[in-house]
Amino acid sequence: MASRKPLQLLFFLALLFLSGGALAGAAAGSTTTNGTASAAGAAAPAAITRAGGIRSLASSSPSSQGGGVFSLDRYGARGDGRHDDTRALAKAWKAACASPRPAVVLVPGGKRYLLKLVRLAGPCKSSVVLTVKGTLVASPNRADWSDRDRRHWIVFSAVDKLTVNGGGAVDGNGETWWKHSCKINKAMPCKEAPTALSFHYCTGLRVQDLKIVNSQQIHMSIEDCTNVQLAGLSITASGTSPNTDGIHITRSKDVQVTNCKIKTGDDCMSIENGTHNLYVSKVVCGPGHGISIGSLGDDNSRAEVSGITIDTVQLYGTTNGARIKTYQGGSGYAKDITFQNMIMDNVKNPIIIDQNYCDKDKPCKAQGSAVEVSNVVFKNIRGTTVTKDAIKLNCSKNVPCHGITLQNIDLKMEGGDGAAESTCQNAKWRKSGTVRPQPCTSKN
Ligand SMILES: *[C@@H]1O[C@H](CO)[C@@H](O)[C@H](O)[C@H]1NC(C)=O
Ligand SMILES: *[C@@H]1O[C@H](CO)[C@@H](O)[C@H](O)[C@H]1NC(C)=O
Ligand SMILES: *[C@@H]1O[C@H](CO)[C@@H](O)[C@H](O)[C@H]1NC(C)=O
Repeated sequence: MASRKPLQLLFFLALLFLSGGALAGAAAGSTTTNGTASAAGAAAPAAITRAGGIRSLASSSPSSQGGGVFSLDRYGARGDGRHDDTRALAKAWKAACASPRPAVVLVPGGKRYLLKLVRLAGPCKSSVVLTVKGTLVASPNRADWSDRDRRHWIVFSAVDKLTVNGGGAVDGNGETWWKHSCKINKAMPCKEAPTALSFHYCTGLRVQDLKIVNSQQIHMSIEDCTNVQLAGLSITASGTSPNTDGIHITRSKDVQVTNCKIKTGDDCMSIENGTHNLYVSKVVCGPGHGISIGSLGDDNSRAEVSGITIDTVQLYGTTNGARIKTYQGGSGYAKDITFQNMIMDNVKNPIIIDQNYCDKDKPCKAQGSAVEVSNVVFKNIRGTTVTKDAIKLNCSKNVPCHGITLQNIDLKMEGGDGAAESTCQNAKWRKSGTVRPQPCTSKN
C-alpha cells in the first residue's frame, strides 16, 4: 500500500503536464511545435502539443520527420466505415513505432475507420501516442475472424510508454456477435468473441479520454502490464449483451483506474489472478454485474491477488456490488482488499464473498483446499438491495476467510418492504461503527 502515494503523485503530475500540453497545443495553433521532450514523463504532453500542430506537419513525409504525427489518412485509410483500413493503421503504427522521437498515430476526427483483427506490437524506439479523434469500428462480418483467433480485435503488445487518448470512440459493432452467443441463443455453440482493446506486456501505459462501445465481448483487457493508468473512459453496451465485461485486469501490477463510467452486460470490472496494487476510484457502474475479484482457483489452480482498493464507486442496478468469488479446490490467496465509499442503488448482492462459487454446467464437487481470503475491509457502504442478501460471506469450511472488517454499512431493502439480511458461513469477521443489517445474524 505504501507505494500508492508516489503513484498518485505521478498521476497528478501527469495530469498537470497534460493540461499544460493541451493548452500549449491550443495556443500553438498553426505554428509548428517540435516537441522534443525527451523525459519519459513528458511523452504525453509532447504528443498533445504535436496534435496541435498536425496540419503543418501533415504535408511533410512521415519518414523524414523522425517523430511527429502519423495520420491514418496518409497511409491509405478511407475512413468511410466500409472499406478495410486495417493495413493503413498497421502501417502508420509501424512507422510511428520505428520513430526515434515521440510519435503520434492519429485517427482523424469525424470519420469511421473499419478494422479487422490488428496487432500493434512494440517494442518501439520512443513513446507512442495513439490519438483517436474519430471512430475505430470493428468489421461487422464475423467471418473476418478465423477460428485461429476469435479472441482479439485491437491488440497492443510489448509497448513501453504507450498512450491511447483523443476523445474519440472504439466501436466493437458487437450486436452480430451477441446474437450468436450461446448465452443468448441456446442453439449456438459456445465460441469466443473478440475483446475490443487488449493490452499485453505494456509498461507505462495510459489510456484516457476514450469511449468504448458495444464490444463483441470484453471491452478492455489489461494483461501482464505494469504501471497502468486508465482515466476518463466511458464504456457502454446493452445491459443484456453477453460477457461484455468493462475492464478486465490480470497478471498486472501498479494499476490505477479513475473517473470511468461503465455500463455493460457483465462485470463492470473483473479483477483476476496476478493483480497486485490496484487502485480504483470514481467509477460509476451499471447496468452490469458489478465489481468482481475473481473468479479465482478454477480447476484447482493457484491464485495470487493482493493490494486492491476500490474507492468511491457507485453501482446502479447491478447484480453484485463488491464481490470476491473463488472456486473450491484452488490455492493461493486474495488479501489486503478494501472496498470503501460505495453507493449501491438497487443492487442484488451488495456485499458478497463467495468461496463456493461455481459457474459450470455440472455442479462443482466439494473440495478440501481453497484460495485463502483475508484482510478484506468493507467500509462506508450504503444504499439499497433488491434481494434480502445485503451482506453474504459464504466462506470455505476448510480455509475460512479471516480478517474481514465490516465498518459503517447501511443497506436497506429497496422500497422498504422487508428487512435486508446478512448471512455468514466460516467467516472470521469484526464489525466497526454502525452496520445495518446487523452482520451475520442467521449463521456464524
Ligand atoms: C525545430 O526543428 C527544426 C528542424 O529539426 C529546427 O531547424 C528548428 O530550429 C527547431 N525549432 C525549435 C523551436 O526547436
Ligand atoms: C495465477 O498466478 C500465479 C502466480 O503468478 C500462477 O502461479 C498461477 O499459475 C496462475 N493461475 C492461473 C490459473 O493462471
Ligand atoms: C454457501 O454456498 C453453498 C454452495 O453454493 C450453498 O449451498 C449455501 O447455501 C451457501 N450459504 C449461504 C448462507 O448462502
